[in-house]
Amino acid sequence: MIDIIKADELLVSELASFSARFFDEKWSEACFLNEIKKLNSAVFCAFCENEIVGVACVENQFGDGYLHNIAVADDYRRQGIAHQLMDKCFEFLQTNGLNKMFLEVRMSNTNAVNLYKKCGFETICIRKGFYTNPSEDAYSMVLEMK
Ligand SMILES: CC(C)(COP(=O)(O)OP(=O)(O)OC[C@H]1O[C@@H](n2cnc3c(N)ncnc32)[C@H](O)[C@@H]1OP(=O)(O)O)[C@@H](O)C(=O)NCCC(=O)NCCS
Repeated sequence: MIDIIKADELLVSELASFSARFFDEKWSEACFLNEIKKLNSAVFCAFCENEIVGVACVENQFGDGYLHNIAVADDYRRQGIAHQLMDKCFEFLQTNGLNKMFLEVRMSNTNAVNLYKKCGFETICIRKGFYTNPSEDAYSMVLEMK
């Protein structure tokens, strides 16, 4: 049974440990704390039996939604957890009156690109050299929420 909750300050240590294992770029405890404290941001956690198995970070950036990151633990993938986390992000943004969500994704990250397409995102453009370590172009994608 998966429960999805909006993270609070008590979870920053666990979130940083999760990000060290599953985020492309590790987020520190301070980074999570900063996002959790902002009124215009939300960090959603998927829990399975008291363990964080998925995380998504979303922000209202000057009137547009922006997905900073999403990841699911290896053993829990392909069970719809990322899709559930994305739905929570959409709900958060819509509650804040927004109807567009943007993101960037490595062009080689087929799993994530497929996830975003399944959620209804469309590619707007390719951002050359957007990523470092390793260097790679990004798809810039947008979803117009109904
Ligand atoms: C991308 C990621 C978050 C997907 O998480 P997930 O919980 O496995 O995704 P879901 O089970 O919700 O899958 C939803 C859809 O995404 C696509 N998808 C996810 N994993 C896929 C895979 N391995 N191969 C092909 N499509 C995949 C499919 O369309 C899937 O729908 P389907 O299962 O009905 O075919 C996960 O693979 C991950 O954590 N990757 C590492 C971190 C990362 O790359 N994050 C994105 C940063 S931009």
